[in-house]
Amino acid sequence: MGDRAAMLRRVNEIFDRRWFTNNGPLVQEFESRIQTLTGVRHCVAMCNATIALEIAARALGFHGEVIVPAYTFVATAHALQWQEITPVFADMDPATHNLAADTIERLITPRTTGIVGVHVWGRPCDTTAIEAIAAKRGLKVMYDASHAFGCSHGGRMIGNFGACEVFSFHATKFINSFEGGAVVTNDDELAAKMRLMRNFGFTGYDRVIYPGINGKMTEVCAAMGVTSLESMTEIVAHNRQNYEAYREGLAGLPGVTLKEYDPNEQRNYQYIVVEVEATAAALNRDELVAVLQMENVLARKYFWPGCHHLEPYKSLQPNAALLLARTEAVAARVIVLPTGQSVSVAAARQVCQIIRRALAVAGDVRERLQARGGVSPEIPARLLARAKDLAIPAGAGGPANAP
Ligand SMILES: Cc1ncc(COP(=O)(O)O)c(C=O)c1O
Repeated sequence: MGDRAAMLRRVNEIFDRRWFTNNGPLVQEFESRIQTLTGVRHCVAMCNATIALEIAARALGFHGEVIVPAYTFVATAHALQWQEITPVFADMDPATHNLAADTIERLITPRTTGIVGVHVWGRPCDTTAIEAIAAKRGLKVMYDASHAFGCSHGGRMIGNFGACEVFSFHATKFINSFEGGAVVTNDDELAAKMRLMRNFGFTGYDRVIYPGINGKMTEVCAAMGVTSLESMTEIVAHNRQNYEAYREGLAGLPGVTLKEYDPNEQRNYQYIVVEVEATAAALNRDELVAVLQMENVLARKYFWPGCHHLEPYKSLQPNAALLLARTEAVAARVIVLPTGQSVSVAAARQVCQIIRRALAVAGDVRERLQARGGVSPEIPARLLARAKDLAIPAGAGGPANAP
């Protein structure tokens, strides 16, 4: 949450100024801080990352087909589909969970206009290989960096790759502005175009020179974003401690692998990602998620079942899975474990103990799960009620659909 007193002071100042939205001083401060942190020339703050993706795709002139990984939050695909651009789903590299560059070329058709890479879990995708293919085939590249604010790639901050990159500052992200997003770019012309598009195409009170939408960030959201940024060092340090606790607590467990972060790069450590290999672990992923949720641990399958299995893609592209074998396999193995400031190191250790205990008595656990009718894909009502106590509204960016 950042410093509550600092946030409330900023909210009071907003009321004193009576400047609530339309590129207010806090939005400008938020943008300027992001520019400084990432070393990118332009930051255009938006109301959320989904609208930011839509505006960026439109500003880049994407149309026809655009190649995206199937292993991402559905907003990456929706931002294209919403504008009647077909997302063409590419497979992943199972080592990184990111778009596999070697799968891109065979998906390019005369209708392809671009590639959207996603830095899944804040671990950068292979920008060099992706951009080399794009240059060879005359395509534009942008990145969905929703997970990757504060992360580096080869020593350069994420934000500096492709034509532009999009961050999310949704409440589930380690830096949040309640709802919020931003496009960052080193391209002056592109930045100017996106600023127009964010504000209906207005350049003055009575002058509209471009088709636009309302993608503006409000002052109260920017206040939260600035306040959150002020605590960035502590938030990352806490996330890192939790990550180390999980790493230690899960070490040596057969079939359970924590996805590691490169210690030589800057990372935000906001995702604790575990793969459960059913052939080696005593319980499979779904059984382990069921046990954790019954123990009041909000463990989640991510990005299960993969964008291509969600509507409208499931109906529009019913055979997409045939080219997505690696995505299918990984999506069936991943669990994301709880972290963030509301999860203490002690709680992270406790989660590891629950996993160890469940695997140690796996036969018994499986029998009991089967007696209850098998594993349910739904989050138990009890856990949703608990989430409500924590003011995480289920179904509204909370446990049921948290990105
Ligand atoms: C990879 C990815 N893309 C896009 C989004 C959409 O972001 P927002 O919720 O800010 O619209 C998210 C989730 O927040 C995400 O995780």
